[in-house]
Amino acid sequence: MKAIRSMVLVSSDPDSMERGALDVFSKLQQQIKAYDLDEEISLSMISDVSKKGRDPLVLVYPDAVIYGSVTPADIPHIVEEHLYKGRVVEEKQISPYDLSGRVAWLSARKGTLPAENRIVLKNVGLIDPEDIDEYIINEGYQALGKVLKEMTPSETISTIKDSGLRGRGGAGFPTGLKWQFVSGAKGEKKYVICNADESEPGTFKDRLVLEGDPHTIIEAMTIAAYAVGADEGFIYIRGEYGLAISRMKKAIAQAREYGLLGENIFGTDFSFDLHIHAGAGAYICGEETALIESIEGNRGEPRSRPPYPTTKGLWQKPTLVNNVETLANVPAIIRNGPEWYKSIGTPSSPGTKVYTILGNVNVTGLIEVPMGITLREVISIYAKGMKDGSTFKLAQTGGSSGSIIPASLQDTPMDFDSYNKAGVSLGSGALLICNEDVCVVDLAKVLLNFFRFESCGKCNPCRIGNKRAYEILSNITEGVGAPKDLDDLQMLSDQLYDLSNCGLGQTAGSPLHDILAHFRAEVEAHIKLKVCPTGVCPMSGRRAYQIDGI
Ligand SMILES: Cc1cc2nc3c(=O)[nH]c(=O)nc-3n(C[C@H](O)[C@H](O)[C@H](O)COP(=O)(O)O)c2cc1C
Ligand code: SF4
Repeated sequence: MKAIRSMVLVSSDPDSMERGALDVFSKLQQQIKAYDLDEEISLSMISDVSKKGRDPLVLVYPDAVIYGSVTPADIPHIVEEHLYKGRVVEEKQISPYDLSGRVAWLSARKGTLPAENRIVLKNVGLIDPEDIDEYIINEGYQALGKVLKEMTPSETISTIKDSGLRGRGGAGFPTGLKWQFVSGAKGEKKYVICNADESEPGTFKDRLVLEGDPHTIIEAMTIAAYAVGADEGFIYIRGEYGLAISRMKKAIAQAREYGLLGENIFGTDFSFDLHIHAGAGAYICGEETALIESIEGNRGEPRSRPPYPTTKGLWQKPTLVNNVETLANVPAIIRNGPEWYKSIGTPSSPGTKVYTILGNVNVTGLIEVPMGITLREVISIYAKGMKDGSTFKLAQTGGSSGSIIPASLQDTPMDFDSYNKAGVSLGSGALLICNEDVCVVDLAKVLLNFFRFESCGKCNPCRIGNKRAYEILSNITEGVGAPKDLDDLQMLSDQLYDLSNCGLGQTAGSPLHDILAHFRAEVEAHIKLKVCPTGVCPMSGRRAYQIDGI
């Protein structure tokens, strides 16, 4: 038996499938066999990696070569030249940067970028997500076997606590502590929920895990269930994520078939099973108590807390709710130990963070980097700089519920505590990078418009406050703002934070606070001088105008 020397992957997203990915795959199979290379070259389908009409793609590792718009007719030449003779077929090769940046990490493999440290996305794009065997040969279900055979539930919780893992759903709550709360809560019946609603605009990190490595989530949820004493779990997936839902369903069926879900897992007396619940597009249903209401069949409105889900969650039973990315760290921590995990990232925020990079940069897409990297590094190294040499003005983190980060915080380490100390929030991992053409008043208006629509309406500060803030911002952009708007926006920001029932209302005021704290002169120019310095707002075109600090 020869060693595998090369791995060939064929993209299998819907566009690729429509453009004949399966025929390309079959032709590759046939040609690899014809050249007697089938023991040296592994061939798999992978999930969505491209977006720009260059599908289907054929990716060759370890060379990190990508061929685009491949047809079955191209295959004999590619196999003979590249896989047999080792010469890249340049006329079919495309750059990773042609692919909206989503495979920029391929270049990292060749050393042109500092390599990402992949834990959460370890398997994504490298294994066939529809084949449990591929997951298993890549260390899959080893961690589950280890906890069930060698560890007690409390040792499992201690391992997660010692690792310092913190929730990646936005708040950064210590994961092991949450597990301990659920474990210690009274009650025979307990649940584990994976929050895969991912409704933050511009965020698609969880989707990639669900589509590209669904068994990781099953394995992590089963470990969590063992640790806290649950026997039933739900994965609440954003309804628009059709491919993720179908891959998750398939993975659950395979895990059941292999005895990795269901009764007496690994021959032990531990039993656990999973259900999928698709969301219906409401942003608020990502909030854990609204999500629980939604699973129960009620209107997705947040509950008042306490009690917290850890003691009274789904059907009033103790319930563990964790984000997809949080869970995706769990098997690796169990396999490699907490010390290994703590060696990555910063002391108070160990591990990596997955970011979706969007906006005015040269390379957009998904990266997984150690906690503590700075925004400047993300922009210069991974996003390949600002688009067309433009100047960085601000970043908006977290989709809608994060912060507006000014250039003065570009060198602040991106970890939970450093950002908290700087008065900003990391959010869930979307990074919208904006250049000087973006107007902060317009940006805040877009965000408040989102919150205005997505407020569930249960409490007044959020239902009315978001509407009033949006109206004030609209007036300002139309040139009819009044000086007192500055105080009113600050007051609304404070009241949203202090009086709202849930995180949606509490964070909705952040854009107001941030633009007043960091870009006050620009807001004042709109109100007092009736000038939009960037020329974005409806009231004015760009005028030759210089304001301090802009
Ligand atoms: C309005 C709103 C939307 C949220 N959306 C999500 C979401 O889509 N995914 C998620 O994991 N957490 C979301 N959260 C946070 C969850 O309430 C919860 O804190 C999280 O799922 C806990 O998981 P973690 O401890 O692993 O971070 C949202 C919170 C709020 C207030
Ligand atoms: S803060 Fe907003 S979203 Fe949250 S419960 Fe109140 S109205 Fe609903």
